Amino acid sequence: MRKKQSPFIITLTTLFVLLLSIFTVEGAKKTYGVVGSSNGNVKLFVFGDSYVDTGNFIHSQSYKPPCGITFPGHPGGRFCDGRVLTDYLALYLKIDSPIPNAYRNASNIQNGINFAYGGTGVFDTHIDGPNLTAQINTFEQLIQQNLYTKTDLQSSFVLVNAGGNDYTAHIQHGSFFDIPKFTKSLVEQLARDIKRIQSLGVGKVAVSLIQPMGCLPELTVIDMHMNCIDLVNKVSQNHNQLLNDAIKQFNTQAGKTVLVTLDLYNAFLSAIDTMNKAHDRNSSLMNPLEECCVANMGHECGDVDEKGAKQYKVCQNPNLAFFWDTVHPSQNGWNAIFTLLQPSIAQFTLL
Ligand SMILES: *[C@@H]1O[C@H](CO)[C@@H](O)[C@H](O)[C@H]1NC(C)=O
Ligand SMILES: *[C@@H]1O[C@H](CO)[C@@H](O)[C@H](O)[C@H]1NC(C)=O
Ligand SMILES: *[C@@H]1O[C@H](CO)[C@@H](O)[C@H](O)[C@H]1NC(C)=O
Repeated sequence: MRKKQSPFIITLTTLFVLLLSIFTVEGAKKTYGVVGSSNGNVKLFVFGDSYVDTGNFIHSQSYKPPCGITFPGHPGGRFCDGRVLTDYLALYLKIDSPIPNAYRNASNIQNGINFAYGGTGVFDTHIDGPNLTAQINTFEQLIQQNLYTKTDLQSSFVLVNAGGNDYTAHIQHGSFFDIPKFTKSLVEQLARDIKRIQSLGVGKVAVSLIQPMGCLPELTVIDMHMNCIDLVNKVSQNHNQLLNDAIKQFNTQAGKTVLVTLDLYNAFLSAIDTMNKAHDRNSSLMNPLEECCVANMGHECGDVDEKGAKQYKVCQNPNLAFFWDTVHPSQNGWNAIFTLLQPSIAQFTLL
């Protein structure tokens, strides 16, 4: 057996144990914050996992076909057929997507740096990449080397997207019966990390609320991709409620809005709902809960066998899919998500 390099894997067995282990979790609340100052020469610094990584995980599926078929046209380090959340945010800020840390040099960091690494988490996961703390450590070291001025940092933008892989890793390590307790420690660590990023002098920090994990095709497959798994979504809701509370507390203490949340949870649900309705009207459109790149049993999108035969099949038109693979949105999916996040980002950049 070859070693798997997937950013996330949840087996059916662990799913069922997960379902059994959740008893009561409260619903998430929606909030949009406001922050910032406008600046023509903004930089973007990105921390987290494969939802925002644009090329740091070099020995992964993200550098193998069919990733990148839509953009940049070849495998380019994104776990997607095309652009991901980072790219849409950069586009919105009217800058080029920040250079992945793996390719950083003295002359290509003017748009910021992307430290995100696929498969990683707030805590250590099964992937041998830098966790969120380690990513922030690297950023801190660069600041100490005076790579950016104080003014640069004050007008900079930070995007943090982490946590999904922590749940996968936690369940894989066999801890099924304490998800609410795990969520609490996860959000507490994430809050410490956010506080640390702020203490480095960055003006605007946007933190992703977690996606509805029960809608990922790796889970909806048990239901023929018909429905999201509500009980798993409740884990996301509970996480998001605690994270929202922590961020509100930061803003209250600061006496102004210094942090915003990006509500991936509701953006995913809303985009999926819209595409579902379109699919109901026209069956040649894709079911949004089904991935575009379908891997053979026991394989992942991008796998080939010893003879080089593809162990996956790509849908006819990735632009009609919401999910690229069993965990990652397609470019089309990210585009729809970003459109829904844009109002909160707009408030954030204008002030
Ligand atoms: C820095 O990296 C860029 C690509 O991002 C490359 O074009 C350039 O030659 C590199 N510069 C130095 C000084 O290594
Ligand atoms: C992050 O990784 C470092 C090692 O690189 C480790 O020392 C630290 O405990 C990890 N932090 C968390 C919160 O898991
Ligand atoms: C259904 O969607 C397909 C793909 O976008 C399109 O070509 C076709 O015209 C649509 N059919 C109807 C009846 O809208």
